[in-house]
Amino acid sequence: MKLTIRALVPAALIGTALLLGCRGQVSREPPMWIKHGMEFQPKYLAFQENGFFADGRNMRTPPAGTVAQGLLKEDDGFWRGGDSAHPIAKNPVPITDSLLHRGQERFDIYCAPCHGRTGVGNGMVVQRGFMPPPSYFDPRLMTMPDGQIFQTISNGVRNMPSYGKQIPEADRWAIVAYVRALQRSQSATMADVPDSAKANLR
Ligand code: HEC
Repeated sequence: MKLTIRALVPAALIGTALLLGCRGQVSREPPMWIKHGMEFQPKYLAFQENGFFADGRNMRTPPAGTVAQGLLKEDDGFWRGGDSAHPIAKNPVPITDSLLHRGQERFDIYCAPCHGRTGVGNGMVVQRGFMPPPSYFDPRLMTMPDGQIFQTISNGVRNMPSYGKQIPEADRWAIVAYVRALQRSQSATMADVPDSAKANLR
């Protein structure tokens, strides 16, 4: 049989109509895979089972002591404030204006709700019934090593929760510096006030 153009026209029309009809329709059926690309390939996914290992898991436990690149927290002083029995005496971060400002900002967010903006221990949470923390001007806290304040933030102490998860180490040291500034402010004399600021005092 000889195919003429005329005979093809209805077939082309039906084909176009079918194609158009399928456009924009949502289907819950999986698509037909006419040609598989790299969508399906043998590979080990993290939480899958694996008969090769005795514990049956794909994910392997790294050997003890493994440290991810860039996460070696070797400097005990900076990362842990010394060890718990021997906290370091001095803040390892150089004290600068910007460090103190950062410390003030972080302190007002994380510590002031309980310790109060001046550190006397009368924060909003305490005014609403939480047990009051000691004043930072208590002689015991005045002479506490910097590393111990850092460790208090990191681990909490007795009734104070730990803030290690929320506050990165560098910010903890900024807060420690600011706590020291608050403490210092309570024993300041006129001689400590810069001349430019004296006019503002009443
Ligand atoms: C939820 C309230 C709360 C917050 C927030 C809080 N503290 Fe405390 N803090 C306490 C309480 C309560 C104590 C007293 C704990 C005790 O002796 O049982 C305390 C004690 C302390 C002490 C004395 C520790 C000691 O050995 O006696 C320091 C220093 C301190 N906090 C620093 C901070 C700093 C810095 C922050 C902010 C990062 C902070 N705290 C945030 C409630 C809080």
